[in-house]
Amino acid sequence: MAHSLPSIAILGAGSMGGAILQGLLASGRASRVTVTNRTRAKAEALTDAAASASAELESIALEVEPEGNARAAASADIVLIGVKPGMVPDLLDEIAPHLRPGARVVSLAAGVTIATFEAHLPAGAIVLRSMPNTPAVVGKAVTGLAPGSAAAPDDVATVRAVFETCGAVIEVGEEQIDALSTISGSGPAYVFLLVEELTKAAVAKGFGEADARLMAEQTFIGAAALLDATGEDPAELRRRVTSPKGTTERAVAVLQDADLAGVFGRATDAALVRAKELAAGA
Ligand SMILES: NC(=O)c1ccc[n+]([C@@H]2O[C@H](COP(=O)([O-])OP(=O)(O)OC[C@H]3O[C@@H](n4cnc5c(N)ncnc54)[C@H](OP(=O)(O)O)[C@@H]3O)[C@@H](O)[C@H]2O)c1
Repeated sequence: MAHSLPSIAILGAGSMGGAILQGLLASGRASRVTVTNRTRAKAEALTDAAASASAELESIALEVEPEGNARAAASADIVLIGVKPGMVPDLLDEIAPHLRPGARVVSLAAGVTIATFEAHLPAGAIVLRSMPNTPAVVGKAVTGLAPGSAAAPDDVATVRAVFETCGAVIEVGEEQIDALSTISGSGPAYVFLLVEELTKAAVAKGFGEADARLMAEQTFIGAAALLDATGEDPAELRRRVTSPKGTTERAVAVLQDADLAGVFGRATDAALVRAKELAAGA
């Protein structure tokens, strides 16, 4: 059995912070977790979701306890910042006086730089910037992790272990975090969009909504599971579905003629431009 993790606070446990919470609780490795949200409804939903977990979970609603972020930060050795990017500086100012010595402050926020974190925290604060994705809920995340100027290898290893409860981790320099985000951070949305479009194609071919969804969704789930289970190159798995001069070959030719490679290049470039705008406060 792997060691338990240090105490953790997740300030802003919405889609992303909540996904990491679920991964952490399911792993059985968390010992003590404190989470905060604004609303009581959200705080209570998280407590209910954690009822069967072995970790000690405290879920704070700021509308009930306005100083809850400070108390949560003071209770933890690892503090994950899961609020929207624009709210990060105020939250850091709020918790800065309450951090434990040696606490690791970990950003989940897209587009907020480590320099911004360090500027709003006490000198020498240990900061790491992460970019996870929502499959953390089912333990299948990909998380990019970049160290701040005061983060030692031991800090990176400890925070890496937190994210490994939710999936795979890739260590990168901060300069690569935004690029990684355009692939794996936003990536689940690209996959869901493809599922939606394939479902529409099935409906257009006369299938009812339920059958169309089943066909499209199960095809993505099955193909991803096959990729996972075999470890084969996706191009090889595609080749096995594509008989020479067959029907799939015709369909794939249409997709390739539509310059799918170029489309993904432009889409991820657009995400990168937006990340730079966010970093500049736009
Ligand atoms: N969603 C993704 O796939 C994804 C992927 C990678 C990174 N991220 C990053 O994760 C962060 C959160 O995004 P999200 O999609 O998870 O947003 P979200 O679902 O809106 O979650 C934000 C949470 O923060 C809570 N909150 C608001 N103000 C707060 C405060 N002052 N203190 C503590 N909690 C507060 C909100 O609670 P109430 O709802 O009760 O107000 C909400 O639950 C962003 O910085 C984003 O860049 C998201």
